[in-house]
Amino acid sequence: MQRKSSWILVCAFLCLSLLTGTAQTAGKTTAGKPVDAEGHQWWQHAVFYEIYPRSFADSNDDGVGDLKGITSKLDYLKDLGVDAIWISPCFPSPQVDFGYDVSDYENIDPMYGTLADFDTLSSEAKKRGIHIILDFVVNHSSDQHKWFLDSKSSRTAEHRDWYIWRDGKGPSQPPNNWTAIFGGSAWKFDPATNQYYYHYFYAEQPDLNWRNPAVKDAMFDVTRWWYKRGVSGFRLDAVDTLFEDPNLHDNPIRPGTNVFGDPVEESKYDTKLPEVHEALRGLRKVTDENNGVLIGETWTADIAELNKYYGEGNNELQMPMDFLFTTVNKLSPADFRKQIAAVDSASGWPTFVISNHDMARSYDRYGDGQHNDQIAKLMAGLYLTLRGTPIMYYGEEIGMKTTPPTRKEDVKDPIGRTGWPKEKGRDGERTPMQWDESENGGFSKAAPWLPVPATAKTHNVADESKDPESVLAFYKKVLKLRHTNKALLDGSYVPLNENDQNVLSYLRTYKDQVVLVALNMSGAEQKVNFELGKNGFSSAKSLVATGKSSSKGDVVTVEPYGVFIGQLLK
Ligand code: GLC
Repeated sequence: MQRKSSWILVCAFLCLSLLTGTAQTAGKTTAGKPVDAEGHQWWQHAVFYEIYPRSFADSNDDGVGDLKGITSKLDYLKDLGVDAIWISPCFPSPQVDFGYDVSDYENIDPMYGTLADFDTLSSEAKKRGIHIILDFVVNHSSDQHKWFLDSKSSRTAEHRDWYIWRDGKGPSQPPNNWTAIFGGSAWKFDPATNQYYYHYFYAEQPDLNWRNPAVKDAMFDVTRWWYKRGVSGFRLDAVDTLFEDPNLHDNPIRPGTNVFGDPVEESKYDTKLPEVHEALRGLRKVTDENNGVLIGETWTADIAELNKYYGEGNNELQMPMDFLFTTVNKLSPADFRKQIAAVDSASGWPTFVISNHDMARSYDRYGDGQHNDQIAKLMAGLYLTLRGTPIMYYGEEIGMKTTPPTRKEDVKDPIGRTGWPKEKGRDGERTPMQWDESENGGFSKAAPWLPVPATAKTHNVADESKDPESVLAFYKKVLKLRHTNKALLDGSYVPLNENDQNVLSYLRTYKDQVVLVALNMSGAEQKVNFELGKNGFSSAKSLVATGKSSSKGDVVTVEPYGVFIGQLLK
């Protein structure tokens, strides 16, 4: 079916972008050398890639990935088009929450290697122009961290007030009704000192007391320590939960129970307290002194809230992660349009994420079970061509699927055991990277800590590198384009045909360069008349397109679940 384009005259967009400037900059307080005339910083032009180190590449064949493994794959990452890697926690840890329980912030877990291995990774990455971002677990430490061991040793210990200790309400009664996000009460009784300590996550992850200035200073110092070692920034874990109500008001309770059998609670007093912004401003100050970047795990789909994380004059997080996309789990042009418009209107530079180590992979969330490869390309065509910085998740580029355990006894993620069968945990999205079709997907010669999915035979780096039609080949093409095309890097986002229920289309305009992106979210071929002639253009020259997607005159034909990215010619 051929439909008419509903776009406003392109001339109007072009004039507007010339008048208003083509893109938002990082804000007044941004440190560092801009990379272009718009004042953009390196991270605004970069493509980020999250590595879950346990599962990326195993250099010593013990079944668990490591830093040397990551170093050995830097050429792959460079070739793919990655400019920065965010490594999920690789610090010493009892691994209760697979590294998100840190027992020493200034070292590397022996399972992953040594500080010397980190330095090698860092210098090799630098040689290739790849930045390293570490995952900073700011809300809590491990219960094995020396600060906590001292804190629990006595009520008068030096570090007692570094964590949150309170008396119970009465015998065997915790201080209030707050529950931990991973199940059960958020308070654990410690008989030695006859008080409870607070943990938003597992009991082995006691919350640090950010109201104590010594804690803040110590944590700021941790970032300084790593900046000196060459890192370019941090992904701040669970920032929402840094502060809680000092008066410990009970949270309101809603009807029903959650997957852990706990009452459903409204997180009124234990998350998103305004004090977090002061802490973030402090961290940002240290970051600016070191030309770094802060990414935040900001669980919000609300733009007003997102704006608060950018801070006034952009003095908090440069990249609060936008989780809006991860809430649209269907191919709905209308929903995506709404989210993109909202993010595009935010007060800072957008950050786009479609998958990570805490949620089912995008391959399955959007896939229909039959056209998943096409749909994986479609999603790449979307989040890699928007105005903003994308953060990829390892394996997304080869179409890795979520493979949850099928038996409770195989579950590694503790929440999958406590919540089984409703909550199967996060093992499914953390399976080993699929490098080739050999045993264990080329990840390790030993049995991997999580089984390699059967799809390693069909979806792996080696095979897909040879196939020009693979998901990997498509990612590479789009990433190559986005690194060199000024309109994709810096151009404004202009939505088109806002009532189209099948094709999501938009322009990226930079000065007189205009790129048209048309994404067919339906299972039928679509022909869209973009009225190019009327808008002063002769045609759309294909830059990257899937299969039969093409353009002729005013009309762009997009195959089922297809992508068309074209340069508009005068
Ligand atoms: C974040 C991490 C998640 C972890 C939790 C506790 O949400 O992404 O993996 O379990 O924080 O640190």
